[in-house]
Amino acid sequence: MAASGEGGADALYRRLAPSYDRRTARRIEGYQRRAIQRLVLWSGDTVLDVACGTGLSFAAILSYIGRSGRLVGIDVSAEMLSEAEARVKQAGWRNVTLIKSAAEDAELPVPVDAALFSFTHDVLQSKRAVENVVASLKPAARVAAAGAKWVPWYLAPANAYIWYVSRQFVTTFDGFDRPWRHLKEAVPGLTVEPAAFGGAYIASGTMGEVEPP
Ligand SMILES: C[S@@+](CC[C@H](N)C(=O)[O-])C[C@H]1O[C@@H](n2cnc3c(N)ncnc32)[C@H](O)[C@@H]1O
Repeated sequence: MAASGEGGADALYRRLAPSYDRRTARRIEGYQRRAIQRLVLWSGDTVLDVACGTGLSFAAILSYIGRSGRLVGIDVSAEMLSEAEARVKQAGWRNVTLIKSAAEDAELPVPVDAALFSFTHDVLQSKRAVENVVASLKPAARVAAAGAKWVPWYLAPANAYIWYVSRQFVTTFDGFDRPWRHLKEAVPGLTVEPAAFGGAYIASGTMGEVEPP
């Protein structure tokens, strides 16, 4: 595990970028797809892929928003973004903008219809990053997150495996029992579906909606 904070993630992903897709795609794409479905995207929407990494989510998002939509990917790692740029170039996508910035400081284009946080534990643990992203969203924008989490106490031995796999990709395990906690403060109606026997989650909600009863 690298040092925590934005600088730690940058150093961690400088090393991981060339092998990231090979190491993760098969494991995470199913959860990513489910989170993207929860965004209920329309043709022409503007979508923010927060901490987009190499752009593993891009094809699925673009399949919903089409050529008239706009996809903005932000990431703190130049090396991850360079992989994303190669993906965009190879596919010939002309409506994708990549921004190299920490989510905490990014100047985001407004107005945004939907924001995806796919396997971005470090970002979700930064209240400042979540607040900055949420500030760029339309009043009724959709938000979705997917990622790993600790399993409930009665399955606790599985946490050794979750730790072993996840430590390669996060700089902190703070909040790993409820990774969506800051997002929930900003999106009170956020609902959370457990997956993988509680070792993963999909969280989604609409800005401005209140907590379901
Ligand atoms: C596990 S990867 C996920 C990438 C992509 N979302 C996916 O689903 O494949 C985590 C990403 O978060 C980025 N990251 C970590 N902290 C960040 C921050 N504070 N601001 C922006 N990006 C950050 C890393 O550079 C890395 O690309």
